[in-house]
Amino acid sequence: MELQIIRTQHPKQKPAPGAKLGFGKIFTDHMFTMRYTEGQGWHDAKIEPYGPVEFDLATTVFHYAQGIFEGLKAFKNEKGEIRVFRPDENFKRMNRSAERMCIPQIDETFVLNGLFELLKIEKDWIPTEPGTALYIRPSIIATNVMLGVHASKEYLFFIILSPVGSYYAHGLEPTRLLVEDYYTRATIGGTGESKCIANYAVSLKAGEEAEKKSFDQVLWLDAKEKKYVEEVGSMNMFFVIGGEVVTPALVGSILPGITRKSCIELLAANGYKVSERRVSIDEVIEAQKNGTLDEAFGTGTAAVISPVGMMEYKGEDYVVNGGKMGPITKWLYDTITGIQSGRLPDPHGWVVRL
Ligand code: COI
Repeated sequence: MELQIIRTQHPKQKPAPGAKLGFGKIFTDHMFTMRYTEGQGWHDAKIEPYGPVEFDLATTVFHYAQGIFEGLKAFKNEKGEIRVFRPDENFKRMNRSAERMCIPQIDETFVLNGLFELLKIEKDWIPTEPGTALYIRPSIIATNVMLGVHASKEYLFFIILSPVGSYYAHGLEPTRLLVEDYYTRATIGGTGESKCIANYAVSLKAGEEAEKKSFDQVLWLDAKEKKYVEEVGSMNMFFVIGGEVVTPALVGSILPGITRKSCIELLAANGYKVSERRVSIDEVIEAQKNGTLDEAFGTGTAAVISPVGMMEYKGEDYVVNGGKMGPITKWLYDTITGIQSGRLPDPHGWVVRL
């Protein structure tokens, strides 16, 4: 397939160096789009000016949420080199999500190359201040115009780009989590491990209620027993309990995070005891009470490595590490961001340099 490139005649004003970017509020000049039609496959791949796209209101995605997305980041070092963190992992995961949501597979190499072309065109949009990045949002949505509940026969794949700062308005300040023991995010056999858009819609109600009580996020428990820790929705969870770094095992209802995987690999390669296993909320609370819960943190592309300073469970507050970022959390933050930006070597070969 050919990739057509149409450049904008109206480039936008870029944020001034050092401007507060927030998360996902500013979009660059171009986007990558590609259409799918049953019988024809993926076609019409384009890099074109960023802008609104018109849809019929009977379009499948608006009614039945047949849509998936990814999130990854690009950085730029002082030599002007573009650095993309583990992009192949995102497109592999996108195909796994597509499979679950009856969406046709994409050619991972083709879209990776399309992304690289887009990044080269948008290079000047990549911010370079510490803690910033160009956030990359690939998505696929079902575009059949019909109200029958069936998999669509037409799709739109797109990649949009957004220069971002930290995901949380308070930056690296430790987050406050509400352990959710009523609402459910995902069940085994459901869609929790795929990055489908509906997973995020179902989390909004609990998230809003938590925000009203001044929490940053909800910590989800398993749907069946409300016993095991799952994830935060925008982050996977890790706990340091008595010297062991523990993260919930991927039992089917948890997103297989790429930052999660990178942390496990970094910890193991550097002599830490790291386990993927079921971890109950009772174990976490017990460890906090007996002084062995050394640290808790979340991991995600948007959130990077985010310390957890306190958790509320059944009306009780549990402070972690005196409400401060712990040493393993800090080491992971410095190491991951160092590899991404080029400040540190990349021994695992995770960064694609353009
Ligand atoms: C990401 O970390 O990239 C995510 O997709 C999480 C969130 C922003 C939805």
